[in-house]
Amino acid sequence: MLSPFELKGDIFSILDQRELPFEERWIDCSRAGQVVDAIKTLAVRGAPAIGIAAAFGLSLEAVRGMDALDSAAEELVRARPTAVNLSWAVERVLKKVRDKDPSDLLLSTRAEAYAIWEEEKEANIAMAELGESLFNSNIQYTILTHCNTGTLATGGIGTALGIIRKLHSSGKLKEVFVDETRPLLQGARLTAYELMKDDIPCTLITDSMAGFLMRQSMVDAVIVGADRIANNLDVANKIGTYSLAVLANAHNIPFYVAVPMSTFDEDTKTGDGIPLEERDPGEVLGFGGRQVAPEVNVYNPAFDVTPKALITAIITETRIFI
Ligand code: MRU
Repeated sequence: MLSPFELKGDIFSILDQRELPFEERWIDCSRAGQVVDAIKTLAVRGAPAIGIAAAFGLSLEAVRGMDALDSAAEELVRARPTAVNLSWAVERVLKKVRDKDPSDLLLSTRAEAYAIWEEEKEANIAMAELGESLFNSNIQYTILTHCNTGTLATGGIGTALGIIRKLHSSGKLKEVFVDETRPLLQGARLTAYELMKDDIPCTLITDSMAGFLMRQSMVDAVIVGADRIANNLDVANKIGTYSLAVLANAHNIPFYVAVPMSTFDEDTKTGDGIPLEERDPGEVLGFGGRQVAPEVNVYNPAFDVTPKALITAIITETRIFI
């Protein structure tokens, strides 16, 4: 079964998502610094998955004592700024083990990392069930999704993709339109790969085609994930999400966001306060490893913010926010 990571003895192995769908190559990590690099370079990505990876990354430093854990924690949290699941998971592990005997640190950090992963899997299943209840039984829906929110992004069945899987297994899914998700193609490379592995009918489109499909009534609902939800329910997610929400609203199409409760950030009042990662210009200058643009100035925000007013419902493992 597909998994974005696994622990083999003292080695935490990360499936290198940059190589997918063509190669399943594993990165063996024995130190937290290697996990930091894997998160920064998107070898592992998706908000819940980077939280889980960071928790296991911390456990790799446990034999060096609490000071080593604290400094690894700082580096891990700095690896990517937008997904709050990263700092949430790191703080949770630190809190659990802070007063433990040094000889217990290894077992307790590992146990907490496993607990975070297990809870993520359970949350995915619960939100899939709640999400499915929003769709009628006697209809087959066409869903549009963006980026990758599946097993690779969560370690479970997925958030938005978990709901899509559930719709499929209960006979309510006609087809999924998968946005390719420029510039790093998480939709084309990862979501299409996951859906095809599960024999779920899907069609790949470029991001700019979404409005055209909606205008022709080819999309019944949009379901996406998120990296951070502010206190007023504004949502940060992969760049392009805001455009989709505007388009969905203009065409009267429901726009759903699926997240575990760990994606909520009570300390950030509104979407304006969410730190949005800006990435390397090279990601936009080129395509498939080949530069296609001249050395022009580039702006490459990796995330955008969708205001709550454009969101039909936020689906979590415990309740639906409407
Ligand atoms: O840059 P990425 O690939 O880490 O961005 C991922 C997303 O934006 C996902 O939609 C989000 O993390 C939710 S994953 C369940």
